[in-house]
Amino acid sequence: MDQTSGVKRQIMDYYNSVGWKNIQDGVFHNASREDLRPVAQEYIHRCRMRVKRHLPEKGEYLLDAGSGPIQYPEYLEYSRDYRYRVCLDISRLALVEARERIGDHGLMVLGDIAHLPFRKGAVDGVVSLHAVHHIPGEEQLQAFHEMWRVLKDSGAAVIVHSWGNLAPIQRVFRRPMKWIIRARRWISRLLSGQGMADQRAGEGQKAADIQIQSPTFRHDFNWVQKNLGSLPGFRLLIWRTINTKFSRVFIHRFFFGKLWLRLLYSLEEKAPVFFARYGQYPMIIYHGSTEPIDSGNEG
Ligand SMILES: C[S@@+](CC[C@H](N)C(=O)[O-])C[C@H]1O[C@@H](n2cnc3c(N)ncnc32)[C@H](O)[C@@H]1O
Repeated sequence: MDQTSGVKRQIMDYYNSVGWKNIQDGVFHNASREDLRPVAQEYIHRCRMRVKRHLPEKGEYLLDAGSGPIQYPEYLEYSRDYRYRVCLDISRLALVEARERIGDHGLMVLGDIAHLPFRKGAVDGVVSLHAVHHIPGEEQLQAFHEMWRVLKDSGAAVIVHSWGNLAPIQRVFRRPMKWIIRARRWISRLLSGQGMADQRAGEGQKAADIQIQSPTFRHDFNWVQKNLGSLPGFRLLIWRTINTKFSRVFIHRFFFGKLWLRLLYSLEEKAPVFFARYGQYPMIIYHGSTEPIDSGNEG
C-alpha cells in the first residue's frame, strides 16, 4: 500500500469507527468539534445557508463530495429542489447514516473524491464541506479538478475549505486563546479543589484523543490562488470567520455573544472577500465550462 492509500485507509477507519459514531440522539462524535451552544446557533445557521446562494437553484443531480451523514438540517436544504443528491464518501457508515436522513432522495456512492466515478458533465452542482483537507496534499489539486470535470457547463461547485493554523486570524489570536484557556483551567481547578491527579488524568485523555484523530493536509491562500485561480468563475468568499475554539473562548451569552456574532455576520456580508482571505473558512466557488482547463501539476 502506498502512502496516499495508507492515509485514506486511516481516514476511512477513523470515520467508520469514531467520527460517525452516534453518541446521542442523532448527534455524532464529529459534532463535538462544533460549537453547539444556543448562543452560536443563529450565526452558524446563517453561515451554513450561504452555500446555497452559489449553487444552481435546481437540477437533476447535486453531488455532495465527502457528504458524511448529512449531519446538520441546513445541509439538507442544498438539494431540496434537485431530483437526487448524490452522497459520495469513503466511509460506509457515513452513507448508512446519510440514507437514514435523506431516504430515496439520496444516491449513495462509496468512493474517493480524487477519483470520481462519474462521466464528464454529469452533475448540476457540487458541494463539499470540510472533506478535501483529508485528502493527502499531493492529490488535492486532482480532487478540485475532478469536482470541476463532473460539472455541467451551467453547473457550479461550492467547496468549504479551512486555512487551519495558516489562517491569519489564527496567527493573531492563537496565543491569547491559549492563555485564556490555561487561566480558565487553573481557575476551575482552584474552585473545584481538584489537584494534580485530575490534571494528569486530563492529560492522559488528551493523549488518547490525539491518537484517534484523522490526519489533515491544508494548503494556504497562495496555493489556492495559484492552482485554482484559473478555474472558470473562481471566487473565494467567506463561509465563516471564526472556528469553534475561538467561539468557545470569546463568545458568551453573558457578554452579548449573540450580538457580537450578528455584527460579525453583517461585516462578513459587506466584505466577503476580505473575510475569506483573513478568516478561518472560505468557500471556494467555481463553475463548469465547455473549455478545457489547464490541469498541469501543482506548484
Ligand atoms: C469532516 S467530515 C465532513 C462531513 C460533511 N461534509 C460535513 O460537513 O458534516 C469529512 C468527510 O469526508 C470523508 N472523506 C475524507 N476523505 C475522503 C475522500 N478521499 N473521498 C471521499 N470522502 C472522503 C470522510 O469519510 C468524512 O465523512
